[in-house]
Amino acid sequence: MVGDAHTSRTMATTAIVTGAAGFIGSALVELLLSRNYNVLGIDNFRTGKRENLSVVQGDKRFRLLEADISKRVLTKDITEALSSSHFVSKDIDSVFHLAAISSVKESIENPQLVNDTNVAGTINVLEMTRQLEIKRLVFSSSAAIYGSPEKMPVHEDAPCHPLSPYAASKIAGELYIHSYAELYGISGTILRYFNVYGPRQAYSEYSGVISTFTNQALRNEPITIEGSGNQTRSFIYVEDIARATLAAGEIKKASGMIINLSGIESISISRLAQIIRKNVADSQSEIIHVQPRPSDVKESIGSMERARKILEFHPEVQLESGLCKTIEWYRAHQTAR
Ligand SMILES: NC(=O)c1ccc[n+]([C@@H]2O[C@H](COP(=O)([O-])OP(=O)(O)OC[C@H]3O[C@@H](n4cnc5c(N)ncnc54)[C@H](O)[C@@H]3O)[C@@H](O)[C@H]2O)c1
Repeated sequence: MVGDAHTSRTMATTAIVTGAAGFIGSALVELLLSRNYNVLGIDNFRTGKRENLSVVQGDKRFRLLEADISKRVLTKDITEALSSSHFVSKDIDSVFHLAAISSVKESIENPQLVNDTNVAGTINVLEMTRQLEIKRLVFSSSAAIYGSPEKMPVHEDAPCHPLSPYAASKIAGELYIHSYAELYGISGTILRYFNVYGPRQAYSEYSGVISTFTNQALRNEPITIEGSGNQTRSFIYVEDIARATLAAGEIKKASGMIINLSGIESISISRLAQIIRKNVADSQSEIIHVQPRPSDVKESIGSMERARKILEFHPEVQLESGLCKTIEWYRAHQTAR
């Protein structure tokens, strides 16, 4: 549960969500609208999809700006979009910055592109925030920045040890958030997401493991475990992540903080493959092992002490129940990879 401070909202508030058409961004947009926000979404549809926003598309409190954050500062575009919007409040209260290239694999293949999006894009979003005099910004960072830490669960003060250009880009983003807080008093919160899963997560060669295994099981293709399968992860359901992200934007004491958002329990990748195959009731898939992926970490679970204390947040969706919802969603929305 998250605390009472943000369970109801009578005054309309306006927020910007970058990466609004993405897996997590679209869940956050829906949550914000359900809490009576006006939302201005930004996306260039690189991995995001229009159908992710189909539920909110007709809503007058939602406006989408199709734009690339890496190319320029979007202050003018935002001002124009706002002036022609039906929003009750045209003052923007907060920015939730999720737009990024979120694949470790893609960052190894194309580090320059990932730098343009995740670092230059973040600077452009910060400049836009400064120029529009917005006071709050929540940045979606990643557990990847810890690399392969010695102690589990990982606390927020563990050292950064980037094992990929993606991790390096998220550390750079965090540092830019700190510098803008110092220089311009923009109050920033950094959220380090661990493994997020759920409906709408893209299925591609760059996908997260739950999307990959589920789609393989639904297609009766082999479920491919990279490496031994003894590596462990903690998974957090997308609706839980959206709730915690919103809380980070609303709770004053989250300002200036770095907060992990992780699942509560660890599970091995082998066990995960078995559970998914069992839950995709009619799957004929066999489970096979392939080459380990470069810079894969052995264990990954974050300490949730700070999230509990600062955000009064605790994940509500258990892995098996989240997996069932996810499997049903992919069954209904199967697309070519
Ligand atoms: N999914 C996870 O497990 C996970 C874990 C850690 C951190 N994160 C972070 O959370 C955020 C959201 O991730 P996601 O899983 O929803 O990924 P996603 O790829 O579904 O969402 C990213 C969105 O950003 C958009 N985007 C990319 N480049 C852009 C650009 N130049 N201009 C405008 N929009 C652009 C994409 O089109 C997409 O809609 C990312 O910052 C990611 O690094 C995700």
